[in-house]
Amino acid sequence: MELQITCLDQSEWRPLPSDESKLGFGRHFSDHMFLMEYTPDRGWHNARIEPRHPLSLDPATMVLHYGQEAFEGLKAYRGQDRGIYLFRYRDNLQRLNNSAERLVMPTFDIDFVASALKKLVLLDQRWIPTSPGSALYIRPNLIATDPFIGVRPSRNYLLYIIVGPVGAYYPEGFNPVSIYVSDHYVRAVKGGIGAAKTGGNYAASLAAQREAQQQGFTQVLWLDAIEHRYVEEVGTMNIMFVIDDEIVTSPLTGSILPGITREAVITIARHWGLKMVERMLGIDEVVECATNGRLTECFGTGTAAIISPVGRIHYMGKTHTVADGQTGPISKRLYDYILGLQYGRIEDPFGWVERIDLAG
Ligand code: COI
Repeated sequence: MELQITCLDQSEWRPLPSDESKLGFGRHFSDHMFLMEYTPDRGWHNARIEPRHPLSLDPATMVLHYGQEAFEGLKAYRGQDRGIYLFRYRDNLQRLNNSAERLVMPTFDIDFVASALKKLVLLDQRWIPTSPGSALYIRPNLIATDPFIGVRPSRNYLLYIIVGPVGAYYPEGFNPVSIYVSDHYVRAVKGGIGAAKTGGNYAASLAAQREAQQQGFTQVLWLDAIEHRYVEEVGTMNIMFVIDDEIVTSPLTGSILPGITREAVITIARHWGLKMVERMLGIDEVVECATNGRLTECFGTGTAAIISPVGRIHYMGKTHTVADGQTGPISKRLYDYILGLQYGRIEDPFGWVERIDLAG
């Protein structure tokens, strides 16, 4: 398939955000976007990069009613050497295809979309911020576009990619966040769509998120939906606990997002010779270990959040402090190492990082 590229004239470029230290997350967008359409007779076609514009959708468009969609989040980093680096981006595209299958949507050719994604990032590279911890966030989104309001899979789809500069996801930056364990709401149940990256999971999280924030906590820690006992994940990240020098995280039970940063941390921890286990972990055990001092660290992992230390865990009316509310040594070491890899500062023994401005 051909990729058509239509660029804005330089005189039409929009101004960059004036202060990189105030980027926040998800507010700024670049000049161009990628789009391609799917129809049953032509498959994926009409792939193009063009100036960013609003989408025109019929009010009956299926995604707006039934949420048949899947998305991804990944980042491009500007290295100290001015190079542009991508981290495990093909894994994100593979996960988008996996989510698409779960949502009964057509998959796409990863090589083709990977190449279009790189062209978009290179075209809009002036939007890649340079301050430490900032990056160009890349958001592919695959949506059902039939104008039809009966419930069935759509026949037509749109895949588009937008990008924009971001700083830290949380207002706390790399400082410890506080999490609120929801004992009432649940995010996903086995057999549902919890392992797919799709809007419905995030819609399901909003009521608990509001409850957490009203009580002064940053994020929700979800427990399993059957027993309300085993820790699963946190709003926008997977979650890990350091108990007796062992890093513990939930196994991928089917209701948890298979995080790419999660998998990277598991691999890195084992590479460093740390004890890393995937096992069911009850909230009762977390609370007990927080009380008797065996829980020495807790941190979240995610593309947007990177490594996000957790300083406080609130459960059933009681707040437990972790690592004295500070960033623990394993969280700090992982954060520095992952950022070092992502910005091309340190050698990558895993084959995860690609410098795209040299790739041609
Ligand atoms: C990411 O970590 O990239 C995510 O997709 C989280 C997002 C929902 C803000």
